[in-house]
Amino acid sequence: MDGVVYQVYPRSFADSNGDGNGDLPGLIDHLDHLAGGPDSLGIDAIWLSPIYPSPMLDGGYDVMDYSAVDPVFGTLADLDRLIEACHQRSIRVILDLVMNHTSHLHPWFVQSRQSTTGPFADFYLWRNPSGWDRDGRPEPPNNWLSWFGGSAWEWEPQRRQFYLHTFLPEQPDVNWRCAALRAEMWAMVQGWLDRGVDGFRLDVFNAFVKAAELPSNPEIAAGGSIPWDGQEHRYDKDQPELHDLLAEFRRIVDARPGTSTVGELFTSGIEAAVAYWAPRHLVFDWILLETAWTAASFRAAIAAREAAWAGRWPTIALSNHDHSRHVSRYLDTLDRHDPATSDAVAKAAATIELTLRGTPFLYYGEEIGARDIVVPRSRARDRAALRMADWWNRDGCRAPMAWTGDAKAGFTTGRPWLPIPPDAASRNVEEQRASGSSVLAHYRRLLALRRGSRPLRTGELALVDVGDPDVLAYLRRANDEATLVVVRFGLGSGEIELPQAAGPWKVVLSSLEPATPTIGSRIEVRPLEAIVLDTVAPLVEPGSSVPDAPTIHG
Ligand code: GLC
Repeated sequence: MDGVVYQVYPRSFADSNGDGNGDLPGLIDHLDHLAGGPDSLGIDAIWLSPIYPSPMLDGGYDVMDYSAVDPVFGTLADLDRLIEACHQRSIRVILDLVMNHTSHLHPWFVQSRQSTTGPFADFYLWRNPSGWDRDGRPEPPNNWLSWFGGSAWEWEPQRRQFYLHTFLPEQPDVNWRCAALRAEMWAMVQGWLDRGVDGFRLDVFNAFVKAAELPSNPEIAAGGSIPWDGQEHRYDKDQPELHDLLAEFRRIVDARPGTSTVGELFTSGIEAAVAYWAPRHLVFDWILLETAWTAASFRAAIAAREAAWAGRWPTIALSNHDHSRHVSRYLDTLDRHDPATSDAVAKAAATIELTLRGTPFLYYGEEIGARDIVVPRSRARDRAALRMADWWNRDGCRAPMAWTGDAKAGFTTGRPWLPIPPDAASRNVEEQRASGSSVLAHYRRLLALRRGSRPLRTGELALVDVGDPDVLAYLRRANDEATLVVVRFGLGSGEIELPQAAGPWKVVLSSLEPATPTIGSRIEVRPLEAIVLDTVAPLVEPGSSVPDAPTIHG
């Protein structure tokens, strides 16, 4: 798991047929950008956000058929071609599995909602009302809430029962305690493995199992920013039985060599992520994604990750399809939005992302420094997020990929499903490929460096105090090789003292070209600069270092 994963949001990547939506043939046409071509990024795997038939009420995370491809994206034959083309380039293919819920249009639910008997009656979480109000209306079985707002229960007049939906009412939760449902899911997983996929991303996996009796959750007096935060989610996720369920799933996946998975942890903390981890089965935690652009925040986040993940293997993600893109967030912190600062932040952030310990997950477009687009509420395509009174609009981070400087950014010849980023004329792959100092060039260099470096791929990590509060510094070490990463978060400048090593430190990469060399044991770190330095000589361990030399925190 020391490769780099690239997340593709298929609807926004590349459109081959002019309907304004990205599709699988479009992705196949652009694989050179990813790996196996002369100017490729050099990633090792793609994670495809859902490509299954879906009414798209939640961006494809509402699946109508687990074993087919939505016509918007192409056909199963296109998927087969994609898998083959990826494998020729040594790219692994990771599918998104949404197994907490289906779409309300899935045939299982269409039948399940009709009656309390029949083969699919038990496939979902049906319950009788807890009572009836004065107007004769049914009252929900418990106090559980939907993440997207309102009660998690929806009344079904045909069955005269409620069903549970942790997300939209059009996303009923399946019942993992039903043996027939389980068998269907595992057969589906096996089917994709047999088709040649190399792994899965498990959507909100820690919500699969609910407490058997579905008791109400305790209310929390001081809730967070959304109603969901007003409860302790003691019974609607993270149940002990989940471990056995995951073990069943992992046995199926593990039977196929070379496969791996990554679980999307739903609203739980880093301790939960660590507890679900197993070799070949990564689990996202959200610490880095939620870290603000300051050296102190990143230092604290990295220290927390290293403590929690000691002896295990974490993931690294700064952006994904559910959050504002990291460059946009960091620019807000810096209160600067000009293209030069934007590029500098993108490069500095990429340096951290690709040199920390763990498996990096890049989000399409970040390699050209893409920022959020602004989509007014009235034009929003993310129907799920619209239900949240005070919530983020995820369309902003799902803009079409900018391939060229054309009016439609080389993404489509038709009307794009979301607006083309306004800076696409100057921020696009074609333009950046031609420039040695672009964000894309920096990503390529970083990926190549990482690939050839044992310390960066697999080494241990130790934070280093270089005496400047605006500079983050850490060492990666493997045997007697060491790599040092230093990053300045602000717009100031100044020299730092490098940690003691028996040999000299050599600059191997800087985010600001041309790099400046070391001056004795010191180096200047310019505004928003990220520098990677190597030494082959053993380090002087802390404790034996001379007074005033920077200390290394293990
Ligand atoms: C995951 C997905 C998100 C989706 C939710 C419900 O969090 O990443 O996009 O809305 O699951 O399926």
